Amino acid sequence: MAGHRFIARTVGAFVLAGFVGCTETGASSPVEVVPEPATSQAALGSPGQAVAGKQHFQQALPGTNGRSCATCHVLSDNTALTPEHVEAVWARNPGDPLFNRIDADDPAAPTPTYAHLKKGLVRVVLPLPPNMDVIDVQGNVITAPDRKISVWRGVPSIADTGFSGPFQVDGRETSLTTQAQSAVTNHSEGGTVAAPVLQRIAAFERSVYSSPRARFVSDLLELGVPLSDIPDPDALLVLDASERRGRDVYALACEACHGNRTRNRIVRRDVHDSLFFALKPNGNIQYTVAPGQRPTPVNVPRPDSEFLNIGFGLMTYLGQRGVVPLFNDSVDFPHYRFRFYTDGTRQHAVTDLPPIPVTASGHPDDINPALDENGAPIVGPSLAAQWYSTDPGRALISGDPTEFEAFDVPSLRGIARSAPYFHDNSHATLADSVDTYSRFILPGIVAMDLPLNPPEFPGGPPEVLTPTQKQDLVRFLQRL
Ligand code: HEC
Ligand code: HEC
Repeated sequence: MAGHRFIARTVGAFVLAGFVGCTETGASSPVEVVPEPATSQAALGSPGQAVAGKQHFQQALPGTNGRSCATCHVLSDNTALTPEHVEAVWARNPGDPLFNRIDADDPAAPTPTYAHLKKGLVRVVLPLPPNMDVIDVQGNVITAPDRKISVWRGVPSIADTGFSGPFQVDGRETSLTTQAQSAVTNHSEGGTVAAPVLQRIAAFERSVYSSPRARFVSDLLELGVPLSDIPDPDALLVLDASERRGRDVYALACEACHGNRTRNRIVRRDVHDSLFFALKPNGNIQYTVAPGQRPTPVNVPRPDSEFLNIGFGLMTYLGQRGVVPLFNDSVDFPHYRFRFYTDGTRQHAVTDLPPIPVTASGHPDDINPALDENGAPIVGPSLAAQWYSTDPGRALISGDPTEFEAFDVPSLRGIARSAPYFHDNSHATLADSVDTYSRFILPGIVAMDLPLNPPEFPGGPPEVLTPTQKQDLVRFLQRL
């Protein structure tokens, strides 16, 4: 009881202290080590640890290839990697450790161009789960002998890692210390790092917040306060009329998945549940067809998965095919198809993804699917014709085909300072991101049931958001 009262009192103090800090007007700030408040010191490490951790973060550890964490998580760029930074370092010194071919280019390329890195993309090599193989279009198994594949991903900011876990776009790391060791191994070619060093790096990362509001939420979570009891710190932001309207648009169109206090928690479970589909052996979705009604996809319950396929893997595929212009469309992404099996013996296949397209016109590049004898579209989990995947996302960690091209819901806190956007930097700006949601993503999420507005330009698709709503939303996002 006493403990409970103590927590309640502490929370009261934090609510006040936090809200005082929350009324800031949102100027962007360089990364500084925020000393931890006394109450959460035990969990977060002392301020001294965070300061020492910052040193480890920005200086290459002994026995590595010369790269530090800050080589990619650039401290003056909100701990992300911007294309502009890559160009500037290239102009200054092409011998900089950033340009190590291990992941800054394809090590097999005859001459490195660093074209991917110049889009802010780093090569990430990951093992296939035991129950998956890589297959070609004919269905032959072509898995490499080391059973690894590589994908290209943007470098996320490490701000707000106090509450934004699990880490990496596929959530494969659950602790900051094991994450730091993998980063040293994979990006810096270093050996085993002493535990206290990893702990100091983690303490530094946990001390970096995108705003006092983010820190307020993080501190209360650290104290064990349930998320639902934490006041929404953005409620006290001083917003102008456009930003206030933007907040309403956010509640309508974004909150279902990005939530409110942390901006990375799914709050509409019906929306979540509607995005996991039962698959046929050929990779296409199963539909039920009731007489006189539209065919509806069969969903599978995945209450334990917080990773969603909302179509950004498909977007990059469409960019590669020249169907939509994207920030990352000038560089080549890999072409993967996968076979999923019941288990690691790989004897009994479950499904192949993405499925070979069955298109309306019969033309292989038609993005409109054919309909089956019941009038249901013949489509895989991305709901469109797709010959290959550029990144299988969470499925590569879990081996679960229902998580094909599913990614972690990122926090939108501080989002104005971490362009480009999405797991593979497909969008350069927030305005572009919002256009894509309005035109291509939200109309496909039937559970959200958002009405459509007319196209914004002749020949364009119908839109969920009007031009004014988009502007207001971007203004609000810039304040997060
Ligand atoms: C060569 C560039 C590079 C270096 C060096 C690097 N990282 Fe990263 N980091 C990345 C990329 C790329 C990702 C995202 C990859 C993914 O999700 O698969 C990432 C993701 C992360 C994340 C996850 C953030 C989140 O919100 O999910 C953390 C934390 C992180 N890195 C910490 C570190 C630390 C600590 C070091 C130094 C020990 C380090 N990184 C070194 C490129 C780099
Ligand atoms: C149905 C769930 C869902 C809804 C609704 C949703 N998002 Fe997302 N959002 C995600 C997922 C999942 C990702 C990660 C996708 C990826 O990286 O491929 C994401 C990623 C993002 C990113 C990229 C962040 C980064 O760090 O690169 C932005 C920006 C974003 N969303 C903004 C919005 C906005 C604005 C809205 C409302 C118009 C919205 N989202 C609605 C699930 C959703």
